[in-house]
Amino acid sequence: MRTALISDIHSNLPALEKVLADIDRRGVDRIVCLGDIVGYGPDPIECVDLVAARCEWSLMGNHDFGVLYEPTNFNSAAEQAAYWSRARLEEGARLDPEKGRRRLDYLNRLRVRVLLDERFLCVHGTPRRPINEYLFPDDATNSPSKMEQIFDRFDVACLVGHTHVPGVFIDDPDFLRPAEFDGTYRLEEGHKVIVNPGSVGQPRDLDPRASYAILESGDAGAAVEFVRCEYDVRTTVEKIHAIPELHDWLGDRLYEGR
Ligand SMILES: [Fe+2]
Repeated sequence: MRTALISDIHSNLPALEKVLADIDRRGVDRIVCLGDIVGYGPDPIECVDLVAARCEWSLMGNHDFGVLYEPTNFNSAAEQAAYWSRARLEEGARLDPEKGRRRLDYLNRLRVRVLLDERFLCVHGTPRRPINEYLFPDDATNSPSKMEQIFDRFDVACLVGHTHVPGVFIDDPDFLRPAEFDGTYRLEEGHKVIVNPGSVGQPRDLDPRASYAILESGDAGAAVEFVRCEYDVRTTVEKIHAIPELHDWLGDRLYEGR
């Protein structure tokens, strides 16, 4: 079974379209999304519709939650973007009530956690605070008790998003970037891992290319291949710059991948 893992799209339609085309070229059985479809970027409506059409399911991310309800602990640019995204979705529901309501309903029904194939625990943040907690690469060395508590919360492997940094946490503990294992990480029985596919629409590992992963799983074991995908960053940046409610920085950071 080949499962494409996408996450943290953040209303970046050019990035999402490129990633989906790349996934189609490689051939997968299903696509799942680990949350944050919206927030930050210029195309919330189009991204929700595309995820709803193409993904088997998506999780509730902190930005999806913030746009629907209350953007708590957001910086001012993120908060303003959340209110603007909500206004766009509400406007969409006014212009086309049936489609618009179905779209809002889709967002409202996003789940907080999914146990995929009874093996892979999927959450946006961490298993102990599924929507909001960050598991940063530095935590592997700086926060042993946090790592221990989080690893205690699942059995085989955990799939997360939220930090926008692709890689694998192992129980040593350590964080391994894809370059450290040539892009494909093989899961070994008895060794728990946490996998982050990185972000489609706002990478933060100093590589501006869209990031996602393909999980290959079967009776013989499982492996995760990390993939990067060039997209037209400038189009997204220019759209952001043209919307007064979206801070210019939200566009500029995409050029640097941070
Ligand atoms: Fe995010």
